[in-house]
Amino acid sequence: MVDLRSDTVSLPTPEMAEAIMAVIPHGLGDDVYGEDPTVLKLQQKCCNLTGKEAALFVTSGCMANQLAIKSHSVPGNEVIVESESHILHYETAAPSIISGVQLMPVNGSNGEPDLSELERKIRPKEYYYPQTSLVCLENTHNRSGGAIISITHIEKLRKLCNDYSIKMHLDGARIFNAIAETGIDLKKYSSYFDSISFCFSKGLGAPVGSVLCGNTAFIATARKWRKILGGGMRQSGILAAAAIYAVDNNITRLKDDNLRAKHFANGLLELSGMIVKEPQTNIVLFKSEKFENSDLIQRCKSHGILISSGGNDNIRAVFHLGINDDDLSFALSVFKKICLNN
Ligand SMILES: Cc1ncc(COP(=O)(O)O)c(C=O)c1O
Repeated sequence: MVDLRSDTVSLPTPEMAEAIMAVIPHGLGDDVYGEDPTVLKLQQKCCNLTGKEAALFVTSGCMANQLAIKSHSVPGNEVIVESESHILHYETAAPSIISGVQLMPVNGSNGEPDLSELERKIRPKEYYYPQTSLVCLENTHNRSGGAIISITHIEKLRKLCNDYSIKMHLDGARIFNAIAETGIDLKKYSSYFDSISFCFSKGLGAPVGSVLCGNTAFIATARKWRKILGGGMRQSGILAAAAIYAVDNNITRLKDDNLRAKHFANGLLELSGMIVKEPQTNIVLFKSEKFENSDLIQRCKSHGILISSGGNDNIRAVFHLGINDDDLSFALSVFKKICLNN
């Protein structure tokens, strides 16, 4: 099967497996005691990459986002998110459960929230309103097909948030896919945000884990909440070793995924009846004028290609380190066969 459902499906390579084995047993300790040397090394590496004071290795991108919301807010606050964000759509209303906050969606274009609408949605400081504590941004933006949020937009948003003393969190699950295109380094992106998270288990190809970075006090709070939520892991150096390998070896290759996504999109465009959103990074959103999405997904599956729903009546195909040029050609040949036979 050529699995294009998500970049989370990739499996550790033999080299990554070797890096994991290499930390057993001497690179391990109890991370709840802060004693796992490999986790500490990973967290320090993430501080160096982001320019933030502290970092916390967590189980998932969702946990990183939820810890950020929890640590930046108190119950009764309101958190502004873009209306197509992962936090709003795919995190099971966790902000209301874990943090007791309300999400305030703001319409956006390609993941960039409309700034005048956003300013209107910041609550006045009256006792009968919830207080706006945080704005969360997502870069790259999943439901917009891996769209890159421009640095100009981020700068304007930071200025706005400064005017109202509002914190900013970046859900940077796929920030390195953006960096592969913009060449802007992670320190620069991070500098606009009070906290930033990114995932090791998407394009970077590690099996598990994300990191949350911010100042020392913020990370101390997040660490406590991680424990409360059952996210305190013990000899998690096994996972951190894979994440370190991913950061050291799999960032520069993300450009290949982005490029394959472009080739795939161009290939689909040559087929009649395909509507394709031009990808900026590794996610291609498309649909067919001839087939219902569920029908097309099923037809692809029967020919050995897995694709999935991308939200808003789109199908998505996501490129990652488990997909090579042969897989790309095969996927396009399958689409051609399906489209020509109908
Ligand atoms: C933009 C974004 N943020 C957060 C997440 C959550 O990551 P995880 O699946 O590791 O919880 C995802 C997952 O796809 C995502 O696309």
